[in-house]
Amino acid sequence: MADFTPRTVLVTGGNRGIGFAIAQEFVSRGHRVAVTARSGEGPEGTLTVRADVTDAAAVDAAFTEVESALGPVEVLIANAGITRDQLLLRMTEEDFDAVVDTNLGGSFRVIKRASKGMLRAKYGRIVLISSVSGLFGNAGQVNYAASKAGLIGMARSLTRELGGRGITANVVAPGFIETDMTAELPEEQQAEYRKAIPVGRYGTAQEVAQAVAWIASDEAAYISGAVIPVDGGLGMGH
Ligand SMILES: NC(=O)c1ccc[n+]([C@@H]2O[C@H](COP(=O)([O-])OP(=O)(O)OC[C@H]3O[C@@H](n4cnc5c(N)ncnc54)[C@H](OP(=O)(O)O)[C@@H]3O)[C@@H](O)[C@H]2O)c1
Repeated sequence: MADFTPRTVLVTGGNRGIGFAIAQEFVSRGHRVAVTARSGEGPEGTLTVRADVTDAAAVDAAFTEVESALGPVEVLIANAGITRDQLLLRMTEEDFDAVVDTNLGGSFRVIKRASKGMLRAKYGRIVLISSVSGLFGNAGQVNYAASKAGLIGMARSLTRELGGRGITANVVAPGFIETDMTAELPEEQQAEYRKAIPVGRYGTAQEVAQAVAWIASDEAAYISGAVIPVDGGLGMGH
């Protein structure tokens, strides 16, 4: 592509699952890619830096390491996330706080840190990985759905705050994707979910990665504050 510009990309939680596939996709498209990981490594061709997204100092140190190796982060994918599913009456304060602090607080921390360089460069692409649960709700996921719905408000506020500075903020909302996160679900529940998906199967991490790479590309410069579902039609576009 004649007008292709390689970017410095950082993916949080890039050692496995969807984050790993996203990092691979950006590498295959010719970008400089770093991943944060608490353990393990990102895919071949990436720089792995250690960071827990609940720790602002660790996030800061990870960014400094990426900046000195690859340059300022131009594309940030806030992907790291956890579930602690439990019905409301059994959900502890700790289950609630841990999920919100990782999924929503973690995204806030990495976006805040990345925005410094993006504002200076007057260029940035921020992609937040939400979930169909954040839009539809899901029994047993009061904590998770709240954190994932919160990301939408975050992206839209970022769009209003940073939109005039060449920075876009969009949400990708996967449905059921084959990763460790869904492998944990009981087989019966998985079969029930599969029946509800119009496409009739779970998605692959690569299918999410391709949507993320596109929304973060120069081709999507005029899209911000959007929610892109990658869910086999489960949410009918929502
Ligand atoms: N799979 C699905 O069906 C699905 C659907 C909708 C949305 N999503 C979202 O997509 C994202 C990736 O999910 P996945 O399915 O790939 O999950 P996964 O296989 O469980 O991987 C989660 C990733 O997040 C990292 N992570 C968790 N807590 C962290 C923390 N405090 N600090 C830094 N990294 C942390 C994990 O690192 P460690 O290896 O160190 O634990 C891992 O790399 C999540 O935000 C998830 O909510 C997934």
